[in-house]
Amino acid sequence: MEAFLRGLPKAELHVHIEGTLEPELLFEMAARNSVPLRYDDVDELRAAYRFSGLQDFLDVYNEGATVLQTSRDFTELAIAYLERAAADGVRRAEIFFDPQTHTERGIAMGAVVEGLAAGCAEAGARLGVSTGLIPCFVRHLPQESAMEALEAALAHREHLLGVGLDSTELGHPPSEFADVFARARSEGLHAVAHAGEEGPPEYISGALDLLGAERIDHGVRCLEHPALVARLRDDAVPLTVCPLSNVKLAVVARLEDHPLPKMIDAGLVVTINSDDPAYFGGYVGDNYVAVHEELGLDLAAMVALARASIEASFAAVEVKHRLLTDLETYIAATGGQAAG
Ligand code: ADE
Ligand code: ZN
Repeated sequence: MEAFLRGLPKAELHVHIEGTLEPELLFEMAARNSVPLRYDDVDELRAAYRFSGLQDFLDVYNEGATVLQTSRDFTELAIAYLERAAADGVRRAEIFFDPQTHTERGIAMGAVVEGLAAGCAEAGARLGVSTGLIPCFVRHLPQESAMEALEAALAHREHLLGVGLDSTELGHPPSEFADVFARARSEGLHAVAHAGEEGPPEYISGALDLLGAERIDHGVRCLEHPALVARLRDDAVPLTVCPLSNVKLAVVARLEDHPLPKMIDAGLVVTINSDDPAYFGGYVGDNYVAVHEELGLDLAAMVALARASIEASFAAVEVKHRLLTDLETYIAATGGQAAG
């Protein structure tokens, strides 16, 4: 069963490339780039991966990102992620990155975007994974910084699929970033935003109304607001849910308490994703296996989640069609018992 879930053709729509930096690669890059670390070895670093909440995690994640210095580092990071993702059945990956986290340290935007794009091109072609890059504006910096990052990123427009919004949610409502999202959308970029992870349901409506978000990243707190649930359902707004992340960042106490089944029962469009797999101990396949085993979702429900991930992607129509056909072929070849 585990093999069936891992093999399911699927899209990953919510993964931060900086959050895929495994401790081994982190140490390798730190040595190569002479970046000092507070940890003696990989085991000591892994032991620090215990988080009380989002901010606690972000501090460790941003520190880890300092080892990324050169275009080559970003290329290797993208390749390492795509190899793991492909082994988990990922056929389409829409990958977040935090440009300001790097440019603030003096790294050129070109090294970040062109480095990631080169990794996506090489590994994507070799592994049969269609890819797209989504720079996220970090909420802890002001909109002026986001606007500068957008203008710099637009020099590499051909590599960009959309824009997103991440980092410290509480205290930073979507209204703070309305202008930069309007500018990005005027360039034809898709818009997504983290909302309703730690922040209140109002941040979800704000992301839709003020940012033009087409998908909501996390969105689990929508359930506190029935009218918002009805809106998300009626408008079929996809929510990119990250179950193991929600446990690690104490959004839910235990996986058994995760609201995913309630979200599905409410008729919401939900997808399963890994968020920051190197820090949360699970790639997308692990998230599929965990929700099947711990939340009692049957095979038909799991297939529906994989199908929804492909449909909610920003892939071109012909790519979506091919991946959906691959999914149906996979189900037929594995017995068709879970066709849903
Ligand atoms: N950046 C990386 N992971 C994040 C998360 N789960 N929420 C907000 N920003 C993030
Ligand atoms: Zn995220």
